Amino acid sequence: MIHTVQIVPGDVQFEVTSGQTILSAVMSQNIAWPNRCRVGACGACLGKILQGDVSYDLEPVLSERERLEGWVFACLATPQSDIVLTLEG
Ligand code: FES
Repeated sequence: MIHTVQIVPGDVQFEVTSGQTILSAVMSQNIAWPNRCRVGACGACLGKILQGDVSYDLEPVLSERERLEGWVFACLATPQSDIVLTLEG
């Protein structure tokens, strides 16, 4: 299944294939997104989901408050629906 990811502001859109992480899809399409370790350790890739759902093979360490606020690790998260995402906190 393919899901669409929209990054706001800027209205950048790209597709993520089943099982692909957000960061992997971003990088394959040469879209700038901060990252460093790519294994869920550094937090550089953190983004905030404004709409939609993601899942993880390996749950990252997020506080309940961060989870409720929508923070996601782009290097680990795979979309489970179309999503809207921002880098702005
Ligand atoms: S790139 Fe380091 S946590 Fe995602």
